[in-house]
Amino acid sequence: MKSICLIGFMGSGKTTIGEAVAKKLDLTFLDTDSEIEKWREFDIPTIFETEGEGRFREYETQVLKKLPFQSAVIATGGGIIEKEENRKWLSEHFFVVYLQTSFDVIQQRLDGDEGRPLWNQELEKKEKLYKERKPKYIECADFILNIRKQSVSEVVDQIVSGI
Ligand code: S3P
Repeated sequence: MKSICLIGFMGSGKTTIGEAVAKKLDLTFLDTDSEIEKWREFDIPTIFETEGEGRFREYETQVLKKLPFQSAVIATGGGIIEKEENRKWLSEHFFVVYLQTSFDVIQQRLDGDEGRPLWNQELEKKEKLYKERKPKYIECADFILNIRKQSVSEVVDQIVSGI
């Protein structure tokens, strides 16, 4: 079975949902941000601060290219779809699920979050990023799931029945 890759904006629940899907299907769970942190031995905000976003994106692409094509559930960083190269890789090798969440819900969830460098900026810039990214998520998704008020287990069931 093709690995399942969860994509979506920061705060869309990729890690929580991904872990639950992996548990339900008895598959390995992987998270691109955690893989980068393990490899580079620094957390994401430190990498952004000391090496910059450009370098972070290079690490992200390298990690993406090493992910298993089979039998895993993978949560990706919200910006993985920024590079065309990554979008192509995602759609060619994985079953890609886009967790589509409204900007309002994301805002509520990430209120006060300081662990995400790209969330730590003016509201207008975040809204712009959200709007610009949406078509990129859609472009490489096999399955789009609108996240509204479902529980985690309902979302998991929807993904499992969509595979
Ligand atoms: C980013 C999202 C983060 C992380 C980094 C950059 C982005 O992951 O990769 O801070 O560009 O949207 P989450 O989507 O898990 O927050």
